[in-house]
Amino acid sequence: MPKVTALTDDLCRYLLRRGTADDAVATELRKETLRRFGELGAMMIAEDQGGLLSVLVGTLAPKLAVEIGTFTGYGSLFIARALPPGGKLLCCDVNAEWARIGKPYWRRAGVAEKIDLRIAPALETLRGLPDAEAVDFAFIDADKANYVAYYEEILKRTRKNGLIAVDNVLWHNWLMDAADQNPETVGVREFNDHILGDPRVQTAMLHVGDGITLIRKL
Ligand SMILES: C[S@@+](CC[C@H](N)C(=O)[O-])C[C@H]1O[C@@H](n2cnc3c(N)ncnc32)[C@H](O)[C@@H]1O
Repeated sequence: MPKVTALTDDLCRYLLRRGTADDAVATELRKETLRRFGELGAMMIAEDQGGLLSVLVGTLAPKLAVEIGTFTGYGSLFIARALPPGGKLLCCDVNAEWARIGKPYWRRAGVAEKIDLRIAPALETLRGLPDAEAVDFAFIDADKANYVAYYEEILKRTRKNGLIAVDNVLWHNWLMDAADQNPETVGVREFNDHILGDPRVQTAMLHVGDGITLIRKL
């Protein structure tokens, strides 16, 4: 038997209560996102993933972090708040309306000045960045069909020992259904295979939220 503790609903609630930083700004943004978007609000990262991003970013103290896929800015809030003084977060999204919802919360948290929001296809934004290995931390969480392309563009701009976190790598358990050829499902499958044994990196796949893979550049 694999050594994985199955999450019952009770255990899941227990985990969320303990793995989540309790703070008013994030909770209100989360509520507003769910109120406005209903089921689509599930695009937002889970509460405990916010806690994980805080710990990772706080530990790495990146000068430059990049988020690919910002939605209403919930994940960016956790990343930006954990940046060291002078640290910057480049946010990439195609939807200005959605990203605008997060801005008042970024301001309330005192991190709006740290965030550079670029509204354009993320591949264009990434390809417009210098080739220098300047990225310390990246969070990939946009359209899944482009995951391999995002990874390659980010990896070459990431410094040695920099970290890339990739969301939805378990993709709601749809990966196991070989008949599912939805481009998003195929994108996640291809990405998970692409990094397997990649000699440029070290990886750890975590069962948190819908699955996050942590990738350290060697
Ligand atoms: C899963 S949501 C991101 C959730 C966000 N990280 C959070 O913490 O709440 C995915 C986002 O990717 C954006 N997106 C989709 N295609 C994109 C593209 N080609 N370039 C940039 N962003 C894209 C969508 O507009 C959406 O806001």
